[in-house]
Amino acid sequence: MCGIAGYVGPKNAVEVVFEQLKRLEYRGYDSAGIAYLNGGDISVLKKAGKLSELGRLIDERTPVSSLAIGHSRWATHGGPTDLNAHPHFDRYEQVSVIHNGIFENYLELKESLTSQGHVFQSETDTEVAAHVVGEEYSKGVPLEEAVRLAIRRLRGAYALVVVSKREPNKIVAARNASPIILGLAEGEGLLASDIPALLPHTRQIAVLEDDRIAVVTTEGPRILDIDGRECPIEPLTVDWDVEAAEKGGHEHFMHKEIFEQPEVIRQALLGRIDEHNAIRLEQVFSEHVWTEIDRVNIIACGTAFHAGLLGKHMFEKLLRLPTDVFYSSEFRYGDPVLSPKSLAIFISQSGETADSLAALRLCKERRIRTLGIVNVVGSSIARECDRVVYTQAGPEVSVASTKAYVAQVLVLSLLALYVAQVREMPGVRVSQCVDELRKLPDRARAVLEDEASVIRVAEKYLESHLYFYLGRGADAFVALEGALKMKEVAYVATQECPAGEMKHGPLALVQKGVMALFGATDPAIHDKLVSNMREVQARGGTIVAITVDRPTPVRQTADELLLVPDTGFDFLNALLGVIPLQLLAYHVARLKGCEIDQPRNLAKSVTVE
Ligand code: F6R
Repeated sequence: MCGIAGYVGPKNAVEVVFEQLKRLEYRGYDSAGIAYLNGGDISVLKKAGKLSELGRLIDERTPVSSLAIGHSRWATHGGPTDLNAHPHFDRYEQVSVIHNGIFENYLELKESLTSQGHVFQSETDTEVAAHVVGEEYSKGVPLEEAVRLAIRRLRGAYALVVVSKREPNKIVAARNASPIILGLAEGEGLLASDIPALLPHTRQIAVLEDDRIAVVTTEGPRILDIDGRECPIEPLTVDWDVEAAEKGGHEHFMHKEIFEQPEVIRQALLGRIDEHNAIRLEQVFSEHVWTEIDRVNIIACGTAFHAGLLGKHMFEKLLRLPTDVFYSSEFRYGDPVLSPKSLAIFISQSGETADSLAALRLCKERRIRTLGIVNVVGSSIARECDRVVYTQAGPEVSVASTKAYVAQVLVLSLLALYVAQVREMPGVRVSQCVDELRKLPDRARAVLEDEASVIRVAEKYLESHLYFYLGRGADAFVALEGALKMKEVAYVATQECPAGEMKHGPLALVQKGVMALFGATDPAIHDKLVSNMREVQARGGTIVAITVDRPTPVRQTADELLLVPDTGFDFLNALLGVIPLQLLAYHVARLKGCEIDQPRNLAKSVTVE
């Protein structure tokens, strides 16, 4: 999610790497740094804040070097401070390291290294990785071998880049799940986390695969596998322009972010489930707190509010824990009754939403326990809540939230399962659910692969004058999110309600030309849904059902189908069901020629009440 850059060659590497980082600015970051070869040493310049802050440091020192690596950091472990910014040194300042991703076992490693006398300057997992590489390197092996040995001890998702003062013509990179792209150019070695950073230098690239190590020098890169064996390099030619490259080849950030969701799910789970299928969230509150809580109030706005509704569904169903969901903007005016043993959960992508912040301050005044589920590390809500669980979704550029919603629901489900574990709730299949969570990235990918069906539906029903969003159970909450996306990006009027409520009023709107989208991912309630579908069809409406990938009564009734895999858990099925709805809103907006990433009248972070 953060930016990585590296250069070795005849140009001033510091300037090249700084320019590369600028080209990755669109990804979002909160600090930046650079390490460069300085005589026989490695020097590091790093600073919290915008790249211009780092630029000022560089201007003061005017360094010139043949080798440099650079990083723009989006904080995950440790807030956005100068000390936490990358690069980080090992114990002996032999190697300097930058890293994207998360090392899940960094706390265990940190403990063991600390007991051996290692001292750490930062709160980051990256510095721990630097010390692990440094330990291996001090055995006298080449840098690529030290990295190879180190990654055997590190667990997680990463793009790791290392330089050493002992080997001044070499940058070593290792990848597992977080991108590293090598630039192929005569007499120069280049790498970056994303293609735009390479385009001014070369259009010839090679993508580093998972579990591979790249050795980048002026003689061209070498690639090794995890056992140190040489691998072939497969060059690719990039013909995107810079703008297309920033969007990773997608036409809009919204589309890119929808397609990032399998990876976002994986990131949200990282470090939070262990090999025994237990949920690891013990650092949030100690166990007695979870047994004491008698009520949960979830407080959020917009998409985050919709994630909260699914949270309520899970908390009540799995934990029998009374849960209310409030719009932040309304919370204060209802003079809420807050039990002293309750927990207030604030969900926010930006962590800066003024309404949510005001509601949080009210809870703090009333001395209620608060927990944030936040994407932006170090944001106001993250800082002011008693505890925080980060969604780890990476920067979201599109104003319409997609991947942050999925990550929020994932964190809520982890929380519900964790409390079920602590409270030893009978009948909650934590281990089976964790198995399904592990499969969820692939399941989400399978839904995305069927984008063609969504495009067909978008084209066929483009002229519908009203889109109805309906569902029962968990699907009813996801329907609300699907409708919000359609309004936001395609400016289409929508009507949304639980399917069973339709006959109490909204059914009057149904006539020929109305399109009804039914969230129908829970086979247990299909019979009732089929009756609702017939009510719509009898009045001339058309049914698109988002349903599971197996024969059900809904499949025989609906006019169109958008399929999701069946996980066996209603809230996970419903979560997968949001993906076709996001895609539908996106494609309707695209076909109508709307400003997708910056819809009219809306802002990404709403800092006014
Ligand atoms: C919709 C959307 C908004 C936000 C809402 C809360 O796509 O993005 O509804 O969800 O403004 O924002 P955060 O999550 O930043 O508190």
